[in-house]
Amino acid sequence: MDYSPRPTWAEIDLDALHHNYRQALGCCPVNQRLLAVVKADAYGHGAIPVTKAFQAWGVKDFAVATLEEALELRTAGIDDRLLVLGSCFPGQEEAFLKYNLMPTLLDIETARRLNKVAARSNQSIKVHVKVDSGMGRVGFLPDQLRASLPELVQLEGLIIEGFMSHLACADELDSPVTTEQQGQFRMMLEMIRKAGIEPRDIHLNNSAGLSGWECPECTLARPGIMLYGGLPGSDFSDKLDLHPVMHLRSRIAQLRQLPTGSGISYGHCYHAHAGMQVAVLPIGYADGYNRLFSNCGEGILRGQKIPVIGRVCMDWIMLDVSNVPDIQIGDCITLLGSADGLSIIGDDWAEQLNTISYEVFCRIGSRVPRRYLPESA
Ligand SMILES: Cc1ncc(COP(=O)(O)O)c(C=O)c1O
Repeated sequence: MDYSPRPTWAEIDLDALHHNYRQALGCCPVNQRLLAVVKADAYGHGAIPVTKAFQAWGVKDFAVATLEEALELRTAGIDDRLLVLGSCFPGQEEAFLKYNLMPTLLDIETARRLNKVAARSNQSIKVHVKVDSGMGRVGFLPDQLRASLPELVQLEGLIIEGFMSHLACADELDSPVTTEQQGQFRMMLEMIRKAGIEPRDIHLNNSAGLSGWECPECTLARPGIMLYGGLPGSDFSDKLDLHPVMHLRSRIAQLRQLPTGSGISYGHCYHAHAGMQVAVLPIGYADGYNRLFSNCGEGILRGQKIPVIGRVCMDWIMLDVSNVPDIQIGDCITLLGSADGLSIIGDDWAEQLNTISYEVFCRIGSRVPRRYLPESA
């Protein structure tokens, strides 16, 4: 049945994505390719359309976090090199082989499992060995790598396609940790080369690494957030010119003139003042409009920033539009992104919510439809 959707949506501006992609590419030395990180539904922007856009611009390397995310791309016909950053868990080996997916190899046990399944079908599987150069999360520590290498080189079902690590503090340009991690990374790279392994790809840098730190031995860079217009950290505001890709908008469902002093929304933490006009939007915390924006969020309407009043509900928010002339039901208010020359970017939300723009974008709910612009893309 045909019907009109709820008037709340996230516009995904593919021109802005392209602009940010060009910025990231500009940070890549000539001998490095750009691998686009499209995990978590392309940080909430929609993995399939975003990956297809990158493909059209010439990107051939992608990374997701899970097998499920990889299969979603394969089912959509995306058959480029696909790295799964989050390991191959027991029972997933055959799917990795069948769909030509490259797991990130975090330990020797996973190597054995993959090798066994590959050998059983006379096949081989490409893996990227991940070392812990100081992130303190996952991957081979130097001693584990040293101990595993003699066995790893014997596993004929595995092709060591990549060698990688991840940076913990690259967003802080004066942190000594990145230099230490680079040293550990090079030391472990040397170790695998001495064992006779020469991976096709070597990679370390995320967005912050790519924009602030050099990695001459790398063949790939793995940016995510900068592609979507989020700064990798506050140290980068003068270094990068990024455009917001996601614009969260909603249309006024009701306009209300409440009696002076009447409470607004749960808990009555706001009371209407005389002559106040309130706009109600069909969006709430179930859509990723955080409840912490109660009484302190903002929207953009006709070139003005207008305040959110009262508690954010699961499906509704209220804004004070008393100072906006000629307002109508159906008028569009922008909560994230830009409109009329004003903007409220992911980093603004992140600062208010004491988080990072990554989380802001990922939390825009699945019930918010994504609309891709320009429509000709
Ligand atoms: C292993 C790995 N590489 C690359 C990225 C991309 O990082 P960023 O979004 O900071 O560029 C991530 C993101 O968390 C990651 O986990």
